Amino acid sequence: MSRNSWATRFGFYLVAIGSACGLGNLWRFPYVVGENGGGAFVLLYVLLALLVGLPLLVGELVLGKSSRRSVLLATEGLTADFQTKFKAPFKFLGWFSVLMCLIVLSYYAVISGWVLHFLTQFTLNLFSVETNWSTSIQMLQKNGWLQVGLASAHLLFVLVVVLRGVQEGLERFVGAIVPFFVLLLCLLMVKSLALPSSAEAVRFLFYPDFSKLSWASMAHALGHVLFTLSIGFGTMVTFGSYLRDTEHIPTAAVRVTLLDTGLSLVAGLLIFPIALQASQVPLTDPGLLFDALPRFLGETKGGALFGFSFFLFLYLAALGASIGLLEVIVSNGVDKLRMDRVTVGWSSALLALVLSLGPALSDSVLRQVKLGSRGLLESLDAILINWILPLIAFGFSLALSWGLSKHRKQHYFIDNSRIESTVLFSHWEFALRYLVPGIILFALLLQTLGLLY
Ligand code: PHE
Repeated sequence: MSRNSWATRFGFYLVAIGSACGLGNLWRFPYVVGENGGGAFVLLYVLLALLVGLPLLVGELVLGKSSRRSVLLATEGLTADFQTKFKAPFKFLGWFSVLMCLIVLSYYAVISGWVLHFLTQFTLNLFSVETNWSTSIQMLQKNGWLQVGLASAHLLFVLVVVLRGVQEGLERFVGAIVPFFVLLLCLLMVKSLALPSSAEAVRFLFYPDFSKLSWASMAHALGHVLFTLSIGFGTMVTFGSYLRDTEHIPTAAVRVTLLDTGLSLVAGLLIFPIALQASQVPLTDPGLLFDALPRFLGETKGGALFGFSFFLFLYLAALGASIGLLEVIVSNGVDKLRMDRVTVGWSSALLALVLSLGPALSDSVLRQVKLGSRGLLESLDAILINWILPLIAFGFSLALSWGLSKHRKQHYFIDNSRIESTVLFSHWEFALRYLVPGIILFALLLQTLGLLY
């Protein structure tokens, strides 16, 4: 992508939404909610999206727009501005983001492979080829090499898109289909809410029973907020760098946050009635979505068509998010290491494939490898999202508040035609400087205590 601005204001929204809305909303959100006991966690998640996610999202966009660079060079520029002597740790911040993109891409590819598998199954089903749903996700989880094959196919698609330079087009396309996807989800949600278990599901999702929270729940909610809004990965810095001058960053950030959070809640309302009624895997299992939904659709009139459309949209959403991840690695490699796109593209996709062997084989060849009670895929996801991502976000909040001059922040935040803008600016600065790092440290502290008790 050359560093021009988007031709229309819509361009930014579509790309940002294309990257934010993905497997995080539909696959990860329901089982993390299940793991943390429901309503109280959902409340925590929404609060943290507004108190931590939103200020950081604004910060990353401001950083991108003001530096017009991708994350490595942008964060280096920040440390050059630093008035304090604490420069050194922040120098690595950009590198951590890029590394995160690589590792997350590796297991994101595995889950995207699951989506591809169900898409194929439903396509066959559409043409009346019989499949046996009851064993499907369990069968897939146990078939490690099939998962490796599917993950390779996915990585290849992503690579082709990124190397042909059409990623912006595709992400835009994904952003554009999100409204249709939401419509389909709402339709399915209405069907699912007609199940007898729906009252229990709504209560589970929205009645805050704080006794169900664990020491680690706050860090889990925080990690998920960062993951689902694509914060700490450098993606939003890149998108910010293409923002047009007339675009008002806070408004854009509020819209992206609300849409993404709303989508997760709809996903919850869709999955839980079904899961409580019929799922054969526990609510805490990463296979939850893939067990509950096909089972339900298998018994619904027109299920094959719904299933086909759902998994097609979900696959496109996964593709949009994966493209964002690979694009960060490639553009930073090109900017910083001065390598050519094809070399960085192929080597990072291959590296991601090698790394994906661990999570793909976690329920078969590597079944014995466990960290605590979790398998490899779950452990990797938990360590990255619940520990490392909050630490990166902590670094970003400090780097942005102390490393960006007030003048630069004001220039990119304040819209002179709105009187409330100046007041909002001081709230944002306060949040970024004290509230965000404070909440992150508190959540990590609680999570550490949870390990001890
Ligand atoms: N936000 C995406 C999701 O919810 C994941 C993602 C993270 C994509 C970081 C790009 C960058 O699925």
